[in-house]
Amino acid sequence: MRLENSKIVAALPELGVELRKGTALADQTSLGIGGTTDLLRTKKHETIPDLLSLLDANGISHKFLGGGSNLLVGDGELPWVVLQLARPEPDVVFEGNVAHVDAAADLGRTVTFCAKNDLGGMEGLIGVPGTVGGALRMNAGAYGMQIGSYVREVKLYRAADRKIEILKGDQISFEYRHTSFAPDDMMLAVKLELPSKPFKEILQGIRICNEKRRSSQPLGQKSAGCIFKNPPGASAGRMIDELGLKGHSAGDARVSDLHANFFVNAGKASATDMLTLIADVRERVHKGYGVDLENEVVVWNA
Ligand code: EPU
Repeated sequence: MRLENSKIVAALPELGVELRKGTALADQTSLGIGGTTDLLRTKKHETIPDLLSLLDANGISHKFLGGGSNLLVGDGELPWVVLQLARPEPDVVFEGNVAHVDAAADLGRTVTFCAKNDLGGMEGLIGVPGTVGGALRMNAGAYGMQIGSYVREVKLYRAADRKIEILKGDQISFEYRHTSFAPDDMMLAVKLELPSKPFKEILQGIRICNEKRRSSQPLGQKSAGCIFKNPPGASAGRMIDELGLKGHSAGDARVSDLHANFFVNAGKASATDMLTLIADVRERVHKGYGVDLENEVVVWNA
């Protein structure tokens, strides 16, 4: 979708918004898949309610993009514009054991930066691509930890109330790859309360997680991490693997040879290829195990 209304375009600079016309979302997602639309990069949190009122008043639908690392975007010209927070400098500020982190901060860099300040707990998240906001929205986790455990406060744009709100940690429920945030809430910033740990100790934990991840996940390839959530008490990757589906493909979308719950873009995969592969594998798992796998990857299909 292109913003053609000159009044809207003229209002953007004052709202702290940079317009990137005709952005290929394939370049913004770790899968390297996705069509084209106008991207609005916003440098100010405070003007987001006004920006969204302006878009709504003009019937322009929108979506919020984080780091694009857990996302499958449809092909072609997309019927909505995309909003993305610009990363401020600095994006992490410490106050004792509390890290004030902007939602646009890179997750891995934040884990490392906290470690350098002797704050640990998030070692398992090293190697998880994406932003802190994205990790928060879906309660990203790995190796026995999840980001939600450390959340003291979240600043977000609440679409239902059309305003910026602050939620305390205990007002939010964090479950396995799921939170009580509404789908149209936009994460803006978070206060994480982290346990004190010497840098060297944290570094050791980070190294162990890095090694485990490198040996079991196709990190160098274009993927969106795990495609399906694990069903209770089981592993989606193991089931897909046991069905002999490693290397199974639809066009250039392919089940990874290293981890069967990672589907990679092995060349010029389209969203249609990836969706075909997802549907095919889901059906085979259903036939083989009677289990309906739920998507972990977020799909923005036009
Ligand atoms: N397994 C196989 N074949 C495979 C993949 C896995 O047999 O192709 C087996 C493994 O050998 C292991 C078991 O299945 O015995 C579990 O595998 P793994 O330890 O890789 O964990 P997972 O359940 O597949 C989850 C998360 C990952 C996270 C890892 C490490 C989900 C859907 N996946 O994977 O998160 O990195 O644990 O904690 O919860 C993601 O969220 O995108 C993601 C990759």
